[in-house]
Amino acid sequence: MLYPLFEWHGVGNGMLMAIIATYHILPCHLATGAFWITYVMERKAYQENDEGMLEFIKKYSLLVLIFCFVTGSLTGAGIWYAATLISPRAISGLIHNYVWGWATEWVFFLIEIVTIYTYYYTFGKISRKAHLRIGLIYAMSAWLSMVIITGILGFMLTPGKWSQTGLFFDGFFNPSYWPQLFVRTAFMFVVGGAYAAIVASFMKDPDIKSKAMKVAAKWGLGGLIVGGLFTVWYFTKIPATAKTIIFEDLAFTKTMFEIAIAAGVLLFIYFGIWGFMKSRTAGPIPAIIAMLVLFVGICAGETMREMARRPYLIPGYMYSNQMIAKDMKPKGVKNEVAKFNKEGVLKNYYFAPESVKEIDASNFMAAGRILTKLECISCHTVESTGFFSIPKLMVRFGASSPEEVHDFLDALSDYDYMPPFVGTEKEKRAMAAYIASLVNPNQKADPAWVLGK
Ligand code: HEC
Repeated sequence: MLYPLFEWHGVGNGMLMAIIATYHILPCHLATGAFWITYVMERKAYQENDEGMLEFIKKYSLLVLIFCFVTGSLTGAGIWYAATLISPRAISGLIHNYVWGWATEWVFFLIEIVTIYTYYYTFGKISRKAHLRIGLIYAMSAWLSMVIITGILGFMLTPGKWSQTGLFFDGFFNPSYWPQLFVRTAFMFVVGGAYAAIVASFMKDPDIKSKAMKVAAKWGLGGLIVGGLFTVWYFTKIPATAKTIIFEDLAFTKTMFEIAIAAGVLLFIYFGIWGFMKSRTAGPIPAIIAMLVLFVGICAGETMREMARRPYLIPGYMYSNQMIAKDMKPKGVKNEVAKFNKEGVLKNYYFAPESVKEIDASNFMAAGRILTKLECISCHTVESTGFFSIPKLMVRFGASSPEEVHDFLDALSDYDYMPPFVGTEKEKRAMAAYIASLVNPNQKADPAWVLGK
């Protein structure tokens, strides 16, 4: 059954998810990428007995520890809280499929936490070989947590054979799994490199600074090139509708694509110039700007990935508004759209007050309000502010009267990125009456029209 609704008034639920989840990308990719860099550096520093580099590595690993294990953990848990509030049914669906995936991931988290603290606090106190090994165990377990979570992330865009079989590994090793894993693996080095460049920019000794900047730039440049190539591969694996949505239907996702490319080019230039030509004098300001550019690029890339999922949370199965789009026989779940179109959404929505379950002349506005929130606020706001405001978009579209909004709702299924209207004809008219009142508050729908008399 559908759950109670959570609504971030005037801003939009999507925004809450976007803020927490995109920010989380930074610490989580840093946590997975950084220690491969320190491992290679530390081995080399031991071979060359380079105390300066060891000093840098110790500083870098402490700052990775603080940044990732404070902000990364907070936002990681934050994603769970936010997603559970906004789309409890999607989280429930994911847990029913992937609970053992997460359990496995958390084992690796635990190893990460234990090894990163051990790594930092045993620096210079235990044998070099043992210390290197601890770093490597951290790097591997952090990356393995990515290997697991990417299966679940990829599933949410390309569920593949799971749609027929409902089997764990059919969904996990889905069509976009490998390209996405390689894209993330490459970009974790870019994040690791950009963060190393910030730490290096604060080093006082120009020799250490220059050496560390060069290492940071090499990982950063390598990650950008390889990540770029894997991104091309990734785009060949996502569904055609996803590409239509990104590159044809929506102007802003096209802009996001251009922003992501521009961010990549700027970072390339940054690593090239400050990593090699100006490595001795590299200051913190360009390094921090580079990190901000990287963050903007991540926001753009993740927005595209999220929009590509529209109109679904789990493609072909669950719409963004959490309604079930088709029968899922292996899980014993039935298509709700057909049922709700026949019986009505409100009658089947446990949390709707009894007083609106039967639509009449006195309650159709209240019914329309609940229906709009149920079906639209996963992507829109009903206020005139925020992410994708319905009244503003209606004006842009050119619909303002209840009849015009009704025609729009009729045509909703023609959009690639919006679910169809679900419900009875009376419910559709009640929704149209409510939405028309958002566009123009003085407008009252004729009850006879709503009730079809
Ligand atoms: C899966 C997410 C999603 C859901 C659910 C959704 N929409 Fe949309 N809607 C979008 C996106 C994305 C756009 C494109 C916005 C843009 O062009 O800037 C959009 C555009 C619109 C537009 C403008 C259309 C045009 O051609 O200009 C209107 C009006 C609209 N939505 C109303 C609704 C209503 C009413 C509902 C609920 C019945 C709804 N949407 C449900 C994602 C959604």
